[in-house]
Amino acid sequence: MSLRLDYTNFMADVVAGGISSSDWRDASAAFARAVGGFARRREANELGFLELPANTALHRQSTEFATRTRGQFDDVVVLGIGGSALGPIALRTALLKPQWNALSKDERSAWPRLHVLDNVDPRTIAALLDRLDLKRALFIVISKSGGTAETMAQYLVIRGRLQNSVGADAQRHLVFVTDPHKGALRTIANAEKIPALDIPPNVGGRYSVLTPVGVLPAALTGMDTAALLDGAAEIAKRCESESLAKNPAGTFAMLQFLADTKLGRHIHVLMPYSDPLRDIADWFVQLWAESLGKHRTADDPGVGPTPLAALGATDQHSKVQLFMEGPPDKTVSFISVEEEAIKFEIPKLHTDVKELAYLGGHRLGELLDIERRATAGALARRGRPNLTIHVDRPDARHLGGLFMFLEIATIYAGELYGINPLDQPGVELGKQFTYAMLGRADAEQARREWNMLPKPDARFTI
Ligand code: PA5
Repeated sequence: MSLRLDYTNFMADVVAGGISSSDWRDASAAFARAVGGFARRREANELGFLELPANTALHRQSTEFATRTRGQFDDVVVLGIGGSALGPIALRTALLKPQWNALSKDERSAWPRLHVLDNVDPRTIAALLDRLDLKRALFIVISKSGGTAETMAQYLVIRGRLQNSVGADAQRHLVFVTDPHKGALRTIANAEKIPALDIPPNVGGRYSVLTPVGVLPAALTGMDTAALLDGAAEIAKRCESESLAKNPAGTFAMLQFLADTKLGRHIHVLMPYSDPLRDIADWFVQLWAESLGKHRTADDPGVGPTPLAALGATDQHSKVQLFMEGPPDKTVSFISVEEEAIKFEIPKLHTDVKELAYLGGHRLGELLDIERRATAGALARRGRPNLTIHVDRPDARHLGGLFMFLEIATIYAGELYGINPLDQPGVELGKQFTYAMLGRADAEQARREWNMLPKPDARFTI
């Protein structure tokens, strides 16, 4: 597997506005401290995601379930949100054929369709339920905590529908992915003998794609889960290096950290030039935002970069204008796919029309890659730092590598910012207010706080 980080266009030697050689020299000492923090977290058993590739027993939970149920279902539906949904979505987009759910059973080699309900918008859920044959559907309910309001609401809706359509057979259409010991889902699974696969206690939602959160939907739809984990293991090994120059995840984290804190480049764009990898950008946005946007102390105004997803070449006709000429507050990280999977030649037609003639004889993949290089070069020319993560191809091995690379980079970045990249206390208050409004029994304190908040004022409403 090959994953290569080219950060030439990030450095002041090459790009006006890049990182100076003295800042980069000084970065080694800061990196050594980050390595120390990383090691302490690892020793404290907080970084469970690093151990996932070697956890064959956990991998087997997914593959055995998939083998046991093979042929029973035409549709697999993931119920989950945040870290419990973005990984499965990224895997589906990268590793299943395009338009997977529209393909015939033969074209899918009899593997099921894969849907991910990552919200509670009734339109989407009703539309899916209208189309599904519940007798041939499996629902994977994913929640680390086992109590997230959106996922539990989805589950209740589905459970109600299943009870009406398959009655006592409902359990056969359900599998849970949750904490091995805690939470409402685990309690229900134990009481009703619903199969339940584990998210290890020391793996948080946004770091869980290589647990059954991602691996179970992958195994159920025929993806190469062994290669996914192997790719992750290989990158984890490379990212153990204590030398900044040899550690790609450390380098990525350090570059983004310096860009944010020294150059005022607070917005970090991830821009794959590859349709299969487009949703890894959304997965990264959650990982980077929820992990790094934090208060260090109670009176700290807060730190953390703002991640942004983009897609090449599509966003050259949208966000790139802003990246080129808008405020100089961004970095752009491209993902480039080296191998051209399909040599799709553009026909030589309209050879007398100059706007079309130059395209004929080139290939679509070649055009995509040239456009990436052109955009990177144009940004560099305007003094806008950018880097490129090169992968050979968007297969399971490289995807596993990319997930692991970005997860490790997030921990290093957390250490550099001096925050805990593993928690998310900031989302709690909104959750408590939701509970208060929905009448949850243990939300008395939140209800009192909510009632004290200002209500919409006619003076400021039009
Ligand atoms: O990364 C996280 O921890 C969160 O985004 C969670 O994944 C999200 O809130 C869903 O939580 P849970 O898996 O407990 O339902």
